[in-house]
Amino acid sequence: MSTHEYRGLGDIIVTARPFDEYLAMFDLQPADLSTATALDCPAGASGFAAGARAIGCEVTACDPVYAGMTSHGELVARARQDTAFGNQYVADTPDTYVWGFFRDLDDHLSRRMAAVDAFDRDRLANPDRYVAGSLPHLPFSDDAFDLVLSSHLLFVYPDHFDAQAHLDGVLELARVASGEVRMFPLVDTTTRPWPGLEDLRRALAAHGHGTEVRHVPYEFIRNGDAMLAIDGSG
Ligand SMILES: C[S@@+](CC[C@H](N)C(=O)[O-])C[C@H]1O[C@@H](n2cnc3c(N)ncnc32)[C@H](O)[C@@H]1O
Repeated sequence: MSTHEYRGLGDIIVTARPFDEYLAMFDLQPADLSTATALDCPAGASGFAAGARAIGCEVTACDPVYAGMTSHGELVARARQDTAFGNQYVADTPDTYVWGFFRDLDDHLSRRMAAVDAFDRDRLANPDRYVAGSLPHLPFSDDAFDLVLSSHLLFVYPDHFDAQAHLDGVLELARVASGEVRMFPLVDTTTRPWPGLEDLRRALAAHGHGTEVRHVPYEFIRNGDAMLAIDGSG
C-alpha cells in the first residue's frame, strides 16, 4: 500500500464501459479484432467481450468479481449500482472530466448502463468465456491471447497497488499475451499521471518487454489520453 495523499474514487468499482469506448481507449478498429484472440482483464461488467464476439473475435473476459457473487443477477445489480455511483462521482467532480466522447451526464449514464445490458446478455449466453481471476495470477497459459487489454485498474487506483504490485500485474498480463498488452489510462481518478511509470517501463525492459506510450483518440478523465503498449511474451 503506498502512503501518498490520494483523494480519488476510493474503492475499486465494477464499471461497464461499452465496446465503442474500448475501441477509442485502445485505438482499435473492428478489423484489428475480427480474427484475433483477446483478453479483457479486468473486464468488470463491460461490453467489450459482447461487441468483440459479435465481430468474430475469440474473446475472454476475466475479473475477480465473477467469483465473488452468488449469482449472475447479483453481479448485474452490483454493476448497475456502481455505474450509478460512478456517474454521481463524475457529477460531483466536474473539473476532472472532459466532454466529447460523452455528450453529458445523461449520455454517460445511459451508454454505461447499456454496456451492463450487453454484458448481461453475453455472459448468460457464453458463461465459460467469463473467467474469475485476479492479478497477479491469471488462470491462463503462456501466450494464450493475441491481444490483452487492461483498463481502469493499474495506474488508476494507486492507493490499492504499490510499484511492485504494478510490475507483477503487468508481467502477468504480458505472460498471457503472445502479441501486445494495452493498458489505459495512465492517470488516476484525480487526473494525476501515475508517478511510477518510467521506473515501471525500465523494469519491464529489464524483463525483455519493450513498451511504448501512445496517444489515443479518446479522453474522458482529464489528461487520460494515452495508453501503455507492452510487447507480450510471444
Ligand atoms: C473500474 S473496473 C474496470 C473494468 C473495465 N475494464 C472498465 O474499464 O470498465 C475495475 C475492476 O477491477 C477488478 N479488480 C480488482 N482487483 C483486481 C485484481 N487484483 N486483478 C484483476 N482485477 C481486479 C474489479 O473487480 C473491477 O471489476
